[in-house]
Amino acid sequence: MPPELLPAAQALFGERLDRAIAYADLLATDGVVRGLIGPHEAPRIWARHLLNCAAVTELIPPRASVVDVGSGAGLPGIVLAVARPDLTVTLVEPLARRTAFLAEVVTALDLERTVTVVRARAEECVGRSPADIVTARAVAPLDRLTGWCLPLAALGGRLLALKGESAADEVAEHRDAIGRLGGATPVVRRCGVGLIDPPTTVVEIVRERAVGPARSKSSRGRVAGLHRTVTSRAGERGGAK
Ligand SMILES: C[S@@+](CC[C@H](N)C(=O)[O-])C[C@H]1O[C@@H](n2cnc3c(N)ncnc32)[C@H](O)[C@@H]1O
Repeated sequence: MPPELLPAAQALFGERLDRAIAYADLLATDGVVRGLIGPHEAPRIWARHLLNCAAVTELIPPRASVVDVGSGAGLPGIVLAVARPDLTVTLVEPLARRTAFLAEVVTALDLERTVTVVRARAEECVGRSPADIVTARAVAPLDRLTGWCLPLAALGGRLLALKGESAADEVAEHRDAIGRLGGATPVVRRCGVGLIDPPTTVVEIVRERAVGPARSKSSRGRVAGLHRTVTSRAGERGGAK
C-alpha cells in the first residue's frame, strides 16, 4: 500500500486492516493472473478499489443486509464485508469464473459467517429476502441498474450505485425512468470526504414503491425467484466463464 494511503486505510478498516491487506494481495496476484482485474490495476488497487469501495460504508446502517450486484472480483461486496463485520453480505455474480474466485476469497479471509456467494443474474434473484441495501459498481447504466436492483431491496431500502464522475449526468438522464421503476428522487452523495481523494460518488435511490421487476431476455420464461443455478456460500467452481 502506498504509505500516504495508510491513514485512510486504518480509518476505514480499523482492526480488520490485516484482512484488507490479504484481499488486496489476492486481487493483485490471483485476481490479475485469472483475468479478473486488469494488470494495470495492480498498483492502484488501494486507491481505486479498496478505499473507494470502503468509503461507502458511511451510508450503510449497522447490521444491515447488503446485496452486491455484479460483484466481479468482490467490489464493493468483499470490501464492505471486510470493513464491516456487522453486515450480512450476498454477492450476486453470474460468471462462474468470478464466483469461484469469490468463494475462495470468502474462505481465505474467513468471511463465511457473513458472506454468501450466489451465481446468478440480479433479475433471477427477485423473491429472495429483500435487502436493506443493494450495491453495484460498474455494472450497467443507471436506468437498467435500477430495474435490476430495486426489486432486490425492501420497501424503504436503498440502492447505492457507485458511479464516479458520470453520476449527475446519469441522474439527470434517467430520473423519470427511475421514478417509473419505483425509486424516489435519486440523490448524489460523496463518501470519504477528507479521507480519500477523490471521494467516492454514489447515487442513492430509495425504493419507494413496488413495481414489477425488469426481466432480461435470459430470465424470460423462468419462474421469478431463486433460479436453480444459484449457489450458496461455496459459490461454484469451473464451468463456462
Ligand atoms: C465491469 S464488471 C464490475 C465488477 C465489480 N463490480 C467492480 O467494480 O470491479 C461488471 C460485472 O457485472 C456482472 N453483471 C453483468 N450483468 C449482470 C446482471 N444482470 N446481474 C448481476 N451481475 C451482472 C458481470 O458479470 C461483471 O462481473
